Amino acid sequence: MKKILILGGDGYLGWPTAMHFANHGYQVMIVDALLKRQWEERMGVRPLFPIPVLRRRVECWNKTAKNPIQVKIADIAQNHLAVYELFKEFSPDAIIHYAEQPSAPFSMKDRNGAVTTFDNNVKGTLNVLFAMREFTPEAHLVKLGTMGEYGTPNIDIEEGWLEITHNGRKDRLPYPKLPGSFYHASKVADSVLLEFACRGWGISVTDLNQGVVYGIETPETKMHPDLLTSFHYDAVFGTALNRFVVQAAKNQPITVYGEGGQTRGFLNLIDTIQCVRLAIDNPAKSGEFRVFNQFTEMFSVMQLAQKVKDAAKGIGFDAQIEILPNPRVEKEAHFYNAKNSALKLLGLKPNLLSEEVLVNILQRALLAEDVDHAVLRPEIRWRK
Ligand SMILES: NC(=O)c1ccc[n+]([C@@H]2O[C@H](COP(=O)([O-])OP(=O)(O)OC[C@H]3O[C@@H](n4cnc5c(N)ncnc54)[C@H](O)[C@@H]3O)[C@@H](O)[C@H]2O)c1
Repeated sequence: MKKILILGGDGYLGWPTAMHFANHGYQVMIVDALLKRQWEERMGVRPLFPIPVLRRRVECWNKTAKNPIQVKIADIAQNHLAVYELFKEFSPDAIIHYAEQPSAPFSMKDRNGAVTTFDNNVKGTLNVLFAMREFTPEAHLVKLGTMGEYGTPNIDIEEGWLEITHNGRKDRLPYPKLPGSFYHASKVADSVLLEFACRGWGISVTDLNQGVVYGIETPETKMHPDLLTSFHYDAVFGTALNRFVVQAAKNQPITVYGEGGQTRGFLNLIDTIQCVRLAIDNPAKSGEFRVFNQFTEMFSVMQLAQKVKDAAKGIGFDAQIEILPNPRVEKEAHFYNAKNSALKLLGLKPNLLSEEVLVNILQRALLAEDVDHAVLRPEIRWRK
């Protein structure tokens, strides 16, 4: 049985990933420091539906399903000895590293937000790399990065690497990065460290430059009400489509920042898990730093808002789109063409954003009783 260590297994993506791998016969151990729950408190936000504490959701899984999940509470950034212990004792074949501060607004709120993000994300990644070198040099690390590392260059975005001819000489170099926040910059720093560790120590890494994830359910979350995942709709931790759906379902305006021409890659939560599974089942070679762009479709923010408006109309809701001054520093009209063929070559079958998918998320959001309208609007500005 392949042993998978899931760092950040209490999170939006980590929890359904853990259940998926357990359900498919892998030996799964979750590690989490429950930091996201503390950051939610600090920012005054909470998920759309209350989420049981980690031990209770794991107990629920272990009673509901055949293959149990193990759990360990540890801070991978601040306690490197706990990380070493974990790698030594569990000896994973593969590590899925989700355990980072995931919000761009959180990282831009003040000095503390930026320093917390770097301290947590970059130190955690270094601790994992050193633990791998020491105890599991043959293991495969699957690390979650973001498409936001690239920014919006006026050329095609390749998958991590770029063939360059400069002054008559050629090379294959890491693709240039133009991160859009301190959060995205922490992911760029992670990528630099990962590439160096592969080159220097011969470990194998897949860096998944992931687009914006949407969705609320997977086959495993539907197995019991206590198994649902932590869906955020607020302006700090909620991603664009998830927020738009809750706004439409709760008769609030769908808030588009600026012109809405900002184009990004998107994917369904189910496809995040599919992509991570493909990466795990087809590991990078020893010493290889492999980068996949992990998204299935590209939309502008305005296209997305319009799609949500149309789907809501189909079930009787007259959602309005409201343009807000853009709190971020980003181009609102730009060229965007990112490649995403590597995961498709491995067998990814995308679940695209159909009206049916949107209506399903809308109907799920409608069941929420306690939506805090105050947290739907952005308070954090990139420029003061
Ligand atoms: N959700 C998206 O749309 C999206 C898009 C691109 C990339 N990502 C990346 O995917 C990963 C998972 O995202 P998510 O949306 O599930 O975030 P999340 O905040 O819901 O989950 C992250 C989990 O990691 C834990 N964690 C953070 N730092 C830790 C530490 N030092 N030690 C132990 N546990 C720690 C948190 O407590 C949390 O449970 C993140 O790295 C994020 O940057 C997410």
